[in-house]
Amino acid sequence: MNAAALLNDIFTSKTVTDSLGQSYPLGSNIDMAEGMFLQQLIEKHQPKHCIEIGFAYGISSLYICSALDNIPGATHTILDPVQNTYWKNIGVANLQRANIGYYSLLEEQSEIALPRLLSEGRRFDFAFIDGNHTLDHTLVDFFYLNRMMEPGGIIVIDDAAMPAINKIIRYLLNYPCYRLLDSVETKAFFKRKLFDNMVTAPFRVLSKLLPAGLKHQIFSGEVIKGNRELGLQTSMVALQKIAPDERAWNWYQPF
Ligand SMILES: C[S@@+](CC[C@H](N)C(=O)[O-])C[C@H]1O[C@@H](n2cnc3c(N)ncnc32)[C@H](O)[C@@H]1O
Repeated sequence: MNAAALLNDIFTSKTVTDSLGQSYPLGSNIDMAEGMFLQQLIEKHQPKHCIEIGFAYGISSLYICSALDNIPGATHTILDPVQNTYWKNIGVANLQRANIGYYSLLEEQSEIALPRLLSEGRRFDFAFIDGNHTLDHTLVDFFYLNRMMEPGGIIVIDDAAMPAINKIIRYLLNYPCYRLLDSVETKAFFKRKLFDNMVTAPFRVLSKLLPAGLKHQIFSGEVIKGNRELGLQTSMVALQKIAPDERAWNWYQPF
């Protein structure tokens, strides 16, 4: 069975199955639109060395690997500390079912494994962050991935609408060496979008009339979320590294 057929089965049945044939409800996964977003980014940019943080039932991995399948010599490194225990090895079972054998799974917390990969001299040109979603964990993940990434590389961050992740993304968008490459929306945030359109959008328009410093002083980050093309409904963003990271030791931009 190929990855696309397996994904179709999983999304139709809304279940996943362990290696003994026991089924469990599908959960914690990216949705189809997000999966296609990852797959198309890989098809377009042809990265060779990918890394993913947060394996769970392997849904994002199936999308990533179905695109990597067509790139000769591609590698995929996956980090998740509890694949065998909490996730009952179902991510691994799914990759086996899809005949994907070129990945390596590190059952470790990303904050422990990433510094080691850096010290081993590993380099990546595509990364997907979907692990522990606290502000500090996500920023630590990005910090090490950035150190292992050449200009041209892409870092995709999931759950961009979560307040902690949204805040980090707005901080990262100030880095001179990154640009917002693309983003995808989720249907799950329809109510928030409505609220945003009705209530916060007028304030945002007003805020555009103010000088940047004053705007930042008056409005919390929540109100100016819609800047830089990132709305509340944005669920996943791709940042592309466009230059070496040469920020000075005291670099800071309000965000
Ligand atoms: C939202 S789920 C990932 C879903 C997956 N990307 C998919 O689409 O099926 C988050 C995952 O992050 C893992 N995780 C939690 N803390 C982590 C950490 N410190 N390092 C790496 N992975 C972590 C969890 O075990 C869980 O599998």
